[in-house]
Amino acid sequence: MADERTFTRVMVTGGAGFIGSNYVHLLLERHPDYEVVVVDKLTYAGNLANLADLDGDPRYRFVEADIADAEAIERAMVGCDAVVNFAADSHVDRSLHDPGGFIRTDVHGVFVLLEAARKHGVARFLQISTDEVYGHFPEGGESREGDRLRPRNPYSAAKAGGEMMVNAYVETYGLDCVITRGSNTFGPYQYPEKFIPLMITNAIEGRPLPIYGDGQQRRDWLYVRDHCTGVDLVLHRGVTGEAYNIGGGNEQVNLDVATLILDRLGKSPDLLQHVGDRPGHDRRYALDTSKAEALGWEPRHDFSIMLAETIDWYAANEGWWRTIKSGEFAEWYDRNYATRGAHIG
Ligand code: NAD
Ligand code: TYD
Repeated sequence: MADERTFTRVMVTGGAGFIGSNYVHLLLERHPDYEVVVVDKLTYAGNLANLADLDGDPRYRFVEADIADAEAIERAMVGCDAVVNFAADSHVDRSLHDPGGFIRTDVHGVFVLLEAARKHGVARFLQISTDEVYGHFPEGGESREGDRLRPRNPYSAAKAGGEMMVNAYVETYGLDCVITRGSNTFGPYQYPEKFIPLMITNAIEGRPLPIYGDGQQRRDWLYVRDHCTGVDLVLHRGVTGEAYNIGGGNEQVNLDVATLILDRLGKSPDLLQHVGDRPGHDRRYALDTSKAEALGWEPRHDFSIMLAETIDWYAANEGWWRTIKSGEFAEWYDRNYATRGAHIG
């Protein structure tokens, strides 16, 4: 087992987003003597409401900045001995409409962070990546960390590019970096463009649930807390230069997940609406997680229990997502779903 590291001030980029904000809470809970500097551009997906309970906590500081802005990043990184980079453009469908923006944040932004980390002598850099860098694994079998990366859409290609830059900094400059490749994550505070919160909130609103293609695609769902414990373990115990798969070991067919959501909310299956498929839609992802398990990690949350809790959270926090859905989201929804022939109600 690798030695346990400790840090004093951790920069968490993208910390106002879904997984990042959950991680900031876990970090301060598990390491009460740490300080955290959250850096976030507050794009449509960044939401300070996710961190509102930390206002006034002397261990927490927020900096509004773009990870691609070298000057701002160098200033914010002063005194940090670790960086955990969650900041990314993160939605596959949006990457089909605007691939360039994804390259700017998910590749160039990673380079800017690495360069600043090198200049500041940061002790550890953790890049949050995704199972999507492997491309899909249509039948049987699971992706392992040594497999070739075969990304198939602009989002996953940009995330793979970010990983390549991280590897370059390990080999060229001896920067101490590790990578996590998480699977599809769900839980509270997830922006409702993603599958599970979109299905939940549309069902509550009585709107159609848009199912791409035949709905038989499969994803390995991971509860956000389990994703965050995996990240925290790799930050503290991961071996320099290594990547670790963090997956839920819980493969589900999209249509089945949508049906479970309708059942729990007491809504009719008539709300399911098959719409035009996503171009280049990855059919299935599956991860071998034995490497992270050997480090001491395991997912502890049951999918059906946590899905039910997540549905209840969205039902109890309508203000949080209704504010989002009435803003920029409405324009995105028209743009994405009208072209798929969806009745968007
Ligand atoms: P999210 O879209 O909810 O949050 C992204 C955050 O990054 C937002 O707060 C946004 O404001 C910020 N951001 C975006 N561009 C920025 C920039 N240029 N500079 C500074 N901040 C910027 O995303 P998420 O679902 O929480 O994903 C977080 C990370 O985890 C991403 O790197 C993503 O690739 C990875 N990941 C996500 C999943 C998933 O299922 N959601 C699975 C595996 C890996
Ligand atoms: P998503 O949450 O976008 O994650 P990813 O594409 O990164 O896996 O989508 C999860 C699955 O749900 C994916 O197979 C696409 C599908 N999907 C739909 O069928 N309808 C939708 O409206 C969305 C957003 C996704």
